[in-house]
Amino acid sequence: MTGTPSSRRQFLGYLGAAAAGAAASAPLTAAAVGQEGPEVGPSTPMSTRTPYGDHQSGITEPTQRFVELVALDLLPDTDADALGRLMRLWTGDVVSLMAGRPAPGDTAPELAGPNADLTVTVGWGPRVFDLPGLSGARPAGLQEIPPMRHDRLEDRWSRGDLLLVVGAHDGTSVAHAVRRLVADAAPFAALRWRQSGFWNGFGKDGSPATGRNLFGQVDGSANPSPGTEVFDETVWASEPGWFAGGTTLVLRRIVMDLDEWDTVTRAEQEASIGRRLPDGAPLTGGTEKDDLDLTAFEDGRPAIALRAHARLAHPQMNNGLRIFRKGLNYTADGASGRTESGLLFLSFQADIARQFVPMQHRLDMHDALNEWTTATGSAVFAVLPGFREGGWLGDTVLS
Ligand code: HEM
Repeated sequence: MTGTPSSRRQFLGYLGAAAAGAAASAPLTAAAVGQEGPEVGPSTPMSTRTPYGDHQSGITEPTQRFVELVALDLLPDTDADALGRLMRLWTGDVVSLMAGRPAPGDTAPELAGPNADLTVTVGWGPRVFDLPGLSGARPAGLQEIPPMRHDRLEDRWSRGDLLLVVGAHDGTSVAHAVRRLVADAAPFAALRWRQSGFWNGFGKDGSPATGRNLFGQVDGSANPSPGTEVFDETVWASEPGWFAGGTTLVLRRIVMDLDEWDTVTRAEQEASIGRRLPDGAPLTGGTEKDDLDLTAFEDGRPAIALRAHARLAHPQMNNGLRIFRKGLNYTADGASGRTESGLLFLSFQADIARQFVPMQHRLDMHDALNEWTTATGSAVFAVLPGFREGGWLGDTVLS
């Protein structure tokens, strides 16, 4: 199935699975659906996403309020056939849970009901392509991120053979879905790490808006927009073959030193990124969605500092290449009783080696933000193409 995210989206809310087929071609409005079920937040639009299509739906949909990232490692006996069995099981779970129905064998079926915008996105780590029969299927550029000077990576937040990204506007739905998916995986794979984050991608009136990270910055403004040619080129794997419609994901757990950040003037904070704090507009003027003017000078100096994060990450500094970012804020218990705060940074791109690695190297060398940010986790995954009704995740390579 093709089309923009909104054309693929089915606003079914609580109308239930029986209504799903009938309603697929006649989307209801979010407001209409909101009247069918309990409120999740003051003005959170409610909708149910289709699990079917060329791409897994969680990639292009706006980030939900609660997201869990879960990595598992294959058990030694899990070969490509067993992986196929797990993918069929997970597909059944995903189809049910996304429709607000209990997963097959659900031990807490009541928790499946109030499903709010649930998406489950599934990926495979590089080691999967070491399995006999799958070595020829490794997507181009799928590689772990090479060590960076500023990294302080910890094993407990890094790598993994399978990834689940589970998001919804209701945290109970997320926890329940993760529980089901991890339980069904038990004969095949063991939990490696689990990280949860939150995001507010809504304006005061409930319409989608760029969210803020814990530095207070508007984060995501310059992202390519789903449904555009630039987005398609940036994100979807381009080679024909089993991985068409897939993408790759880089996940970095990045600690943000808020105590030190708070000691810096707002002018310095804004200079470190190249955008204004109140509205995310470039320091060279305009509004949030406007591009930076990297050639502008002010008082004889570049208006966007040479070490500004958004300059160094800009396509003009990266051979025209882009990535598609999604951030999740998190807080966790840190060292010596302190709170750790940071960003679970997700980057989607067609090719990690070509698009992400050179950009990350440039930022590692020069980025002003390095003073306050440290990556403590790193993982990469091939995010599987979508599947059709009757099909299953990974069926283009495993069947
Ligand atoms: C905690 C870490 C990070 C923070 C707080 C952060 C914050 C920001 C902010 C506030 C912006 C400007 C608004 C926007 O366009 O979204 C931005 C832009 C951007 N960032 Fe980051 N970022 C972080 C890490 C990274 C990493 C690791 C990468 C890639 C390796 C990256 C790549 C980009 C890109 C490509 C842009 C858009 C540049 C443009 O085209 O204008 N960021 N970031």
